[in-house]
Amino acid sequence: MPATEGDTIFILVGASGDLSKKKIWPTLCNLKRDFLSKSSKFVGYARSKLTIEEIKTGVKPHFKSKTADDEAAFDDFFASSSYISGRYDEVSSFIKLSEHLASLSLESTSKGVNVNYIFYLAVPPSVFDAVTSNIKLCCMAPKGVTRVVVEKPFGHDLESSEVLSKHLATLFWEQQLYRIDHYLGKEMSQNMLVLRFGNQMFGPIWNNQSIKAVKLTFKEAIGTKGRGGYFDPSGIIRDVMQNHMVQLLCLVAMEKPPSLEADDIRAEKVKVLKRIQPVKMEDVVLGQYVGDKSKPEDSEAYQGYLDDPTVPKSSTTPTFATAVLHVNNDRWEGVPFIIKAGKGLNERKAEIRLQFKDAQGDIFSQKCQRNELVFRVQPNEAVYAKLMTKIPGMEFKLEETELDLTLTERFHGHKFPDAYERLLWDVYCGNQSSFVRSDELREAWRIFTPLLNEIDTAKHKPVDYIFGSRGPLESDELERKYDMKFSGTYTYKPSQLSKSQL
Ligand code: NDP
Ligand code: BG6
Repeated sequence: MPATEGDTIFILVGASGDLSKKKIWPTLCNLKRDFLSKSSKFVGYARSKLTIEEIKTGVKPHFKSKTADDEAAFDDFFASSSYISGRYDEVSSFIKLSEHLASLSLESTSKGVNVNYIFYLAVPPSVFDAVTSNIKLCCMAPKGVTRVVVEKPFGHDLESSEVLSKHLATLFWEQQLYRIDHYLGKEMSQNMLVLRFGNQMFGPIWNNQSIKAVKLTFKEAIGTKGRGGYFDPSGIIRDVMQNHMVQLLCLVAMEKPPSLEADDIRAEKVKVLKRIQPVKMEDVVLGQYVGDKSKPEDSEAYQGYLDDPTVPKSSTTPTFATAVLHVNNDRWEGVPFIIKAGKGLNERKAEIRLQFKDAQGDIFSQKCQRNELVFRVQPNEAVYAKLMTKIPGMEFKLEETELDLTLTERFHGHKFPDAYERLLWDVYCGNQSSFVRSDELREAWRIFTPLLNEIDTAKHKPVDYIFGSRGPLESDELERKYDMKFSGTYTYKPSQLSKSQL
């Protein structure tokens, strides 16, 4: 149930942009249909002189509609939506927006019901200051609560992030700010607290006594695809590592929070981050993909990063990075946290992999491989433990197999909500537990800023790797240096038995 009383207006600032069209409008539409109170209203705000009908037409191709009910929900959603065009840096434009919000609130306020304003900022960093200042000046909810949802990038480095945080802190309370990291809205991220702290069996082995290494992987099988303008000034570390992967790391490494309250969870994450020293260049491999010339000329794989017309020809921006982080506390001293992230790789995958130490006091002639516990975030959410078993039969032969919880099978028929849907629902409910607090953000930037400065100034050429490969071999070498082993002996054999055979 929403923890917030009253009716709500969602205001999407930057409503005509790519993120809004592809993600935020469709998400709000789904939320309205399934969860939000029927009185909720939606307002788009951007510079372009558009009508709400034109916005609707732009959103339509991105709305997954299967049935006539979906179509009806889409129409119903846009019937409660409106659009205001105005400048981002002009007070009079925001006064116009405020008047519009007041007129939409009239029916509720005349009945004595408060109206809450939730602003979603899908705007580029260049107008961020102006927009937030103008919201504060003109558009705070007169009686209800005002919340502001902020999209990354939250700065470019520690210094710029601090400037942004200080600016926001002069305008809003931390309780009003929702910094989105959509990886925290993914089903497996949400599940990590339950898997870790709701199962006694993991507690005693979740530390440096049992675990040899932790590997966090983000792989995409696509390249920048014309998004070079956005990607090139950032690179893979700013794009996914400093935020999404660090959040996954926190979920693995944090201690049990005293409660599920947002600030209890976030305080534990901050404690972990504070124990991580800035990443050193010697613990990093940087890569940039080159085209696979064995592929057809018109395929994406044929094009290297530098062939993307939106990328500067001499760019040294990494599209791939592996970095090793060390959490210097009692639980994790000596366990490397290897983060591997890249575009243009062999598969799309995000996962957390705990590799355990070798079984001690070997009596099986070194036939046992290390156990691994894998949390697959995407695609196809699963938790599996790789372990040794005896092959049934008269012989005493060993094989690697798995204890397998494929969530999409075990919970077949359940809806796996989209990350944005869950997170916007949390904003509506006033639940900040899956949003990044300012001190978390500061710590994450502290860990990566010296490395990023070095990369930006030295402009070393990253190692080439071929589009569609697993990334540079130097990355595997770095893993080996930290004694993360790959034996190549495991084969996954999904259950062959149909239900009728059981
Ligand atoms: P693997 O033994 O294949 O181990 C994969 C790990 O080893 C990854 O970290 C991978 O790195 C790394 N690796 C792969 N090749 C090399 C190499 N040449 N040198 C060094 N490291 C390497 O086991 P998985 O756990 O990945 O399982 C294999 C397959 O079975 C996967 O596709 C998995 O999804 C599937 N499976 C599915 C289950 C389910 O659906 N429930 C359950 C169990 C397995 P990198 O990612 O960096 O390339
Ligand atoms: C975004 C990055 O934050 O996350 C993109 O800017 C990346 O470059 C995306 O593609 C990945 O998100 P997902 O949910 O598709 O794994």
